[in-house]
Parts: sequence; structure tokens; C-alpha cells
Amino acid sequence: MTKYGDFPGARPRRLRSTPAIRRLVAETRLNAADLILPAFVREGITEPHPIASMPNTVQHSRDTLRKAAAEAAEAGVGGIMLYGIPEVKDAIGSQGTDPEGILQVAIRDVIAEVGDAMVVMSDLCLDEFTDHGHCGVLDEQGRVDNDATLERYAEMARVQADAGVHMVGASGMMDGQVGAIRQALDGIGKQDVTILAYTAKYASAFYGPFREAVNSSLKGDRKTYQQDPANFREAMRELALDLAEGADIVMVKPALPYLDVLRKVADEVDVPVAAYQISGEYAMVEAAAANGWIDRDRAITETLTSIRRAGADMTLTYWATEVAQWLRQGR
Ligand code: PBG
Repeated sequence: MTKYGDFPGARPRRLRSTPAIRRLVAETRLNAADLILPAFVREGITEPHPIASMPNTVQHSRDTLRKAAAEAAEAGVGGIMLYGIPEVKDAIGSQGTDPEGILQVAIRDVIAEVGDAMVVMSDLCLDEFTDHGHCGVLDEQGRVDNDATLERYAEMARVQADAGVHMVGASGMMDGQVGAIRQALDGIGKQDVTILAYTAKYASAFYGPFREAVNSSLKGDRKTYQQDPANFREAMRELALDLAEGADIVMVKPALPYLDVLRKVADEVDVPVAAYQISGEYAMVEAAAANGWIDRDRAITETLTSIRRAGADMTLTYWATEVAQWLRQGR
């Protein structure tokens, strides 16, 4: 006997019997305000450049980025996360800290376009800017040098904040990065710039399409800094460190293969929790749908609902604008 009684009195199907009652009892809802649109902007192009592995997603020109930001804001999307693709890459990712670098230019463009209608965020990581494609600078042996990288991140934080960014995404998985970024921001009087910490970021095969999106030159992998997919407890340690270093929002990434980690993080903390539905998650759904193997729109809604059900307060998704528009239409 369950505490609610048994069949035939107890019939769970009663609450599933019509669309109206299903809508009424839904425990999880999607909101446009909780969605964040990741967007790529490439230096030196005048037309958007398609990303083959991410259908309907592009490397924007400065102009089309502004339009995409305006469209997202209009649809009620909560934020935009910017990635810059420079024309020239080098060993230390100089363009990432040049005040006239593409990412800084894009931050100013988007803020000029949408003002405070959306939270404007920027990726704070070197991989888009380095010729070797790693998220940090390398030592003489070619290994990613954690502490030297922190100095680069501090400088990136200062130039992005000077460009006016509202929130920085600390995505590099260097030890101490959140603290180094917080200190750099506070040091120039930017106490209000928020840190979105990529707390549990796994070394995932699902980043594949993103590498195309940012013209990545990476050879090899990121396994010395991103987490091993086999590990769960390790995420809790990263979480404790990020919170101690001053993370305002903590994130789990990728989303769908790591819902267990997301659930645990959401249960543990009293700060907002984000999830990143990454490029490969997007590509899987688009590819299967293009083959007619799954219903695209239902699959998108189901994945985003699952991420929210697992505890995400907000979700980065390449479908943000489209889904926000659906929600507007009451779908
Ligand atoms: C690092 C960064 C990556 C992504 C977001 N920030 C790439 C990586 O860690 O390899 C991936 C996002 C995605 O796959 O959608 N700057």
C-alpha cells in the first residue's frame, strides 16, 4: 500500500488525460528569461559564415551579431554569451587582451544595440585566440602553464570589463581562475562584473562542432585541465573551490550527459546554477531531425526541459532565440 492508496482508486493517468490538465500539473516550465544565447563573431567578415556542423548557426559579422542580439532581446532571451574569432592567432592569444580585439569590439557593439535589455556575457578563455588552440599559455615543454595563464586571464578580465561586459564566463578550467579574475576585476573598480564559473567542465567529445565554430587549431585534447567524464566527486571539489574564490553563478557543462552532476550541484548550493547545452548536443538533435529520425521541436523542448528539471536555473543553448519565440507564441 502506498501512502496515497492503491489501484484502482489511485490512477496517475487521470492527471495526464488532457492537454489542459497536463499543462496545469507540469512541474517544470521553460522561460525565455532563463535562456542564454551563445554567439560567435568573426573578425574581418562582412557576411555571416555558416558553421557546417551546427545547422542554422553562423560565425557572425559585426553587423549580423548586432541583429542577432537585437532579435534575441526582442524575443525575451535573458542573456547572450559572446565568442570572438580573431583574424590572427598567436602563442599567447594577444587578440584576447587587445582593447581593439574582436571580442572587446563585439561587447561594445552588443551593448550599444541592446543596452541593459539582456545580460551581455563574454567567454573568458584563450583557446579562440591561441595558435596552438589550448585554453592557456604553454611552458617550454609545451604543457599548459596554469599560473602564467592566470595572469593572461586577469588581463582578459580587465579589457572585457573595460569594454563594458556585464558577466564573464570563466571557461578555461585553470586552478585558481575564479579568484584571479575576481581580484583583477575588483582591482580596477569593477566589483559589479559578475563571474559565471564553468565549475564542472568535462573533457567532452561533444565540443566537436564548437571547434569548427571558432576555427580552432587545437591538436590533441584538453584532458590535463578539463574533467574526466568518469568523475563525479571531483565536480564537488571544483564547486567548493569556485564558491570560495567568489563565483556568482556555477555551471555544469555539457548538460545532457551530466544531469547527475547538475542535480547534485543544484542541491548543494545557494547560488544560481547554469547548464550549457553544448554544440555537440545541438548537432546531434539537428542531425537526427534532418534525417527524419526524431521530431526536432519536441526533442529540443524535451532536452531543455530535462536540463531544467535536473536543476538548472538558466541554460545556454544555441536554440535560445527560437525557443523564446515559441514560448511567446504559447507553444
Ligand atoms: C572554451 C569553450 C569551449 C566551449 C565553450 N567555451 C570549448 C572547449 O572547451 O573545448 C564549448 C561550447 C560548445 O561546445 O558549445 N573557450
